[in-house]
Amino acid sequence: MGQQEETWRRGFSRREALCGLATFLASSPLLHAQRDPWPLGDHRRMLGFNEMLTAFDFEPVFRANVPLSVYDYTAHGTDSEFTLRRNRDVFDWVELVSGGGVNPDQVDTSTTVLGVPLKNPIMVAPTARQRDLHPDGELGMYRAATTTDSAMIVSDNSSFPFPRIADAAEGPLWYQLYASQDIEANRQPLADGQAAGAQTIVVTIDQQTSLYDRSAHDFHLGGAVRGPRQRRETSNPYGVGEGRLWYEWKLFDDLRALVDVPILAKGILTGEGAKKCLDHGVEGIVVSNHGGRAIDYGPSTLEVLEEVVEAVNGRVPVLIDSGFRRGSDVLKALALGADAVCLGRAARWGLGAFGEQGAQKVIEIIHAELVHAMAAAGCRDIQSIDRSIVRTNFA
Ligand SMILES: Cc1cc2nc3c(=O)[nH]c(=O)nc-3n(C[C@H](O)[C@H](O)[C@H](O)COP(=O)(O)O)c2cc1C
Repeated sequence: MGQQEETWRRGFSRREALCGLATFLASSPLLHAQRDPWPLGDHRRMLGFNEMLTAFDFEPVFRANVPLSVYDYTAHGTDSEFTLRRNRDVFDWVELVSGGGVNPDQVDTSTTVLGVPLKNPIMVAPTARQRDLHPDGELGMYRAATTTDSAMIVSDNSSFPFPRIADAAEGPLWYQLYASQDIEANRQPLADGQAAGAQTIVVTIDQQTSLYDRSAHDFHLGGAVRGPRQRRETSNPYGVGEGRLWYEWKLFDDLRALVDVPILAKGILTGEGAKKCLDHGVEGIVVSNHGGRAIDYGPSTLEVLEEVVEAVNGRVPVLIDSGFRRGSDVLKALALGADAVCLGRAARWGLGAFGEQGAQKVIEIIHAELVHAMAAAGCRDIQSIDRSIVRTNFA
């Protein structure tokens, strides 16, 4: 081979140069800026427990661990998933404004909600059937919440009976109820929940439509054939579960007689709705669109938070959930007036990835991020967080 050919064989071709540039650009953090990371999407090796750095790292491990139907049940939202996406996009529309930093070691995240002292304004949202994610189920989730000084809200559709969950740990424990129309039918579960130590009753009032459902026969593992999205059979055209169509504000008056602890309403998205709750004796509001699982094309919760906070005017605490994955997300909600933030899917990813330890680590990571975001924004404690540290650019 002559010298010319040798140079050509060993040289850097234009095609290789272009390929190299394309690879550099594709992996450049610039292209991914402001988007949620998806670090393992195309990766063959799963990260180990000690490599988990953000809540997002847990999601692919959780996804790999559970049957597809369990993944789908957790991941998806209603219809076109506009609200599901908006719940994440909204955090890009709120800027944090630094007022001069403080030392993270001096940041204190303790607060009080409904008279309950909490060292951490991050709570675990009620989500159903946690034993499907990991054998630890709600027992592990509650232990993780207790270890991280977070309050746990147990779903009405839990995999373990509430008293058994209550025995698993000692931290603040709340009970979520899907009320039955026959008010008397709520008496026993509410009595059992309170007897086992529920410190509040969270009554969920948003209307969930049916979600993704893949039945086993219409998808093949690893293959390209995916089953159709199937709606639950309902007599209404919206797929809204029949058991929840009767809700009316009077429900809170009726439940009052059965409940000695504070009642919160979960699923509020307007100031008017919040005022109605207060008129009917509700003692706390959870601004929630069920993580994009209620009616689609509604707003994200962060966008409506201030409206609700203004309507409530300090009379009762306002909690929020839907889309929270980062400590800075939590800080933005606290700055817009929330008293605490609940994690739905993020906590499930942790449990599904590594059981109790995974759920614990997710909360620890988000809490550590919150501490750092507070320090960077110049907030030494929860009381010093106010509207001045955020600028909103809602669409
Ligand atoms: C898989 C799953 C199950 C849920 N189950 C319940 C439930 O049983 N009761 C309830 O009030 N909310 C339930 N939710 C809604 C959560 O309490 C919370 O509002 C939502 O997950 C917050 O959004 P995020 O997942 O983006 O954090 C569920 C959410 C998910 C994702």
